[in-house]
Amino acid sequence: MKRQVEILPDVDAIVARSLELIVSRIHTAVEQRGQFTIALAGGSTPKPLYGAIAQQDLPWDKLHIFWGDERYVPADHPDSNEGMARRAWLDQVPIPADHIHPMPTAAADPAESAAAYEQTLQRVFQVTDGEVPALDVVLLGMGDDGHTASLFPHTPALTVGDRLITVGNKDGQPRLTFTAPLINQTRCILFLVAGANKQTALTQVFAETADDAHYPARLIRPEGELWWLLDAAAGAALNSPSS
Ligand code: 6PG
Repeated sequence: MKRQVEILPDVDAIVARSLELIVSRIHTAVEQRGQFTIALAGGSTPKPLYGAIAQQDLPWDKLHIFWGDERYVPADHPDSNEGMARRAWLDQVPIPADHIHPMPTAAADPAESAAAYEQTLQRVFQVTDGEVPALDVVLLGMGDDGHTASLFPHTPALTVGDRLITVGNKDGQPRLTFTAPLINQTRCILFLVAGANKQTALTQVFAETADDAHYPARLIRPEGELWWLLDAAAGAALNSPSS
């Protein structure tokens, strides 16, 4: 694992730096494999990045869009990660509709939707049961509790090792989420983390030893690139003597 940590002045700087990293990886992926695959994060931090990507001149027909996690609500619900990304980015650019793969949230049983999304990934990446596909980029945020995607502390989703997609749980609310093995197969993972409220969790995630179950972002240890793009407020955790 090659962990690169950059402490940037503010969210605007995180957006500019992550945009630079993503655009370069889009061009590399399209040159090498004829397509680029990315899984999006929800929450507030990535939203301005999506708006910035929409302004770029990119080979839109070569992009395939996935979500790394989703709240179990319809796309038109204010909490929907799909709805946020479509409004901020995807509705502004000509990505073919069948290249956009939202997580399904209509079935009464979220486990049914998790299995359906797993089949979508297997179909698009042409892998069979037991094989873990490698996306080009996965965007991740981190909650102040150390969760990432919808891998929340002390939940069953953390230990799912034989699936690509599973059901997460936030305070009793179901979510769909990439599993740690799927995330860790990614060529380039970008964590976008801003705010002083993330300092404690960051200190624990970066500590030599701490409880992965208590700070699930510790589970993200890819073979490929791992970037942590922090604003000054969050990054202060890594400069303090205790870290
Ligand atoms: C979600 C996200 C979640 C998010 C973190 C950080 O569905 O909410 O995927 O994992 O990345 O909660 O959120 P902020 O970027 O808003 O701090």
